[in-house]
This record gives sequence, structure tokens and C-alpha cells, in this order.
Amino acid sequence: MAASEPDRVHVPEGDPNETSVGLGGLPDRDGRVTLDACIMDEFANCGAVACLEHIVHPISVARMVMEKTPHVMLVGEGALQFALANGFKKEKLLTASSEKAWREWLKKAEYKPVANIENHDTIGMLALDAKENISGACTTSGMAYKMKGRVGDSPIIGAGLFVDNEIGAATSTGVGEEVIRICGSHLVVELMRQGNSPQEACEKAVLRVVKNQPQKSKDLQVGFLAINKAGEYGAYALQKGFTYAVYSPEISNTIFQAKSYY
Ligand code: GLY
Repeated sequence: MAASEPDRVHVPEGDPNETSVGLGGLPDRDGRVTLDACIMDEFANCGAVACLEHIVHPISVARMVMEKTPHVMLVGEGALQFALANGFKKEKLLTASSEKAWREWLKKAEYKPVANIENHDTIGMLALDAKENISGACTTSGMAYKMKGRVGDSPIIGAGLFVDNEIGAATSTGVGEEVIRICGSHLVVELMRQGNSPQEACEKAVLRVVKNQPQKSKDLQVGFLAINKAGEYGAYALQKGFTYAVYSPEISNTIFQAKSYY
């Protein structure tokens, strides 16, 4: 794994007030917090977990899948068993405030799983280290009040995250089903390979979502973030409000608003 350590996404994962990842994530419609995450490095090593319960840092389990197994993805019970066997602690992830929000939802229990349209529902991190090696990570608790067993884009290499150390990397947020349909993060990297800047590549990928679902796209969020080998970056989303942070020798952890289609 690159020195840049993209698994630092464990900071929001451990924050009980962050309702879209890790501890405090909003649960599925049965009240279970199920987490998805993946990680990828400059050698195309990758690891992922999906529908993982009870573990605060799914990204660290994904990293362990990458480093300690011949596999790319472990899901559900198997992922939990692997995590516990490797020293992770079983914890309650449903906080009092997430439980309260879920109980409120239960009053109507309308099945309309939501991705946070104002900002994001996923933490993705792309890192370019001093040796110009690229790596990335993506982690989420997925759509609030989803069906049991639903998995979105975030743990899927090529959808929620993709790294090609020759070209660049991309990660996504928003309604995972729409990102999976276009192999979103892989698409963004391939668009950069064709000569597009990270900004152009993110815009073209979002346009692909609009082309697929012109009507539906008005009411849902999908956003991409990308970086290339030269350290140029870009971001674009369907809806306003998608923010991202940049940290570099020149820019000290500054928050930017991504441009949007609507
Ligand atoms: N992008 C997160 C999800 O759809 O689960």
C-alpha cells in the first residue's frame, strides 16, 4: 500500500455524528447498520467488504482482505467472521440518534431508500504520494433504510473506486445503482486515459447517468471525484451541494463545491 494511506477514511468512519458511514450510519429498513468499503493501491491490489455488520472500520477489514487473502471481496457473515478472527472488535454501530431517525422512518415505512441529495452518502479518498503513486479508498453505510442485503457501488472496484497508477483514480458518491450501471469510477479513469482532464472525465460520466435515466436523474444524486498522475483533480455531480476537500503542499485541507449538472 502506498505511503499515502487512503484508509485514513477511518476518521469519518469512527465519527458517531456522521450518518452515512461507519459508527452512527443510518441502518437498513430492519434497523441493521451494514457497511460497504473498498481500497485499491498502485499495483492494482484491492480488497473489499460488503454488507459487513458490527465493525466500526470496514475500510481496515477491506485492507486486510487485500493484504492477507487471495480474494478481493468478502461479504456479510463471512466478512464479519474474517474481521473477528483478525482482531477486530464486535461493536454496536446503531447510535441513539440513528435509531431515533429509523424509528421515525418506521412510522410510515415507505420504501424509498435515500441517498443524501444535499451532499454525499459516501466517503471516498484519492491519494497521490511523493513518488507519484496513486491509491484510493471508499466507505459507506449505504442508502438509509435499504433492503436487507442491498449493496451499492462503494465496495465494487470499478464502480465506487478505481485506480490505475499510469493514469489516475476516481471515486463516486450518490445512488450506487446508477454508478454501477455505468461502471462509474472505471469509466472516469478510462475517459482520462483518452485525454480528458479529471474535470472533463467526471462531467462526461455524470452525463452518461443523465443519458441513461433522463427523467430519474433530476431527483437523484451521483457525483464523481478524480485525480490524474499530474496531480490535477476534478469533481462533478448531478445535483448541487457535493463538496470535496483537497490537501496538498499548496492547499491546506480546503473544502470545494463541485459543479453540478442541475
Ligand atoms: N454510494 C453509496 C451507495 O449507494 O450505497
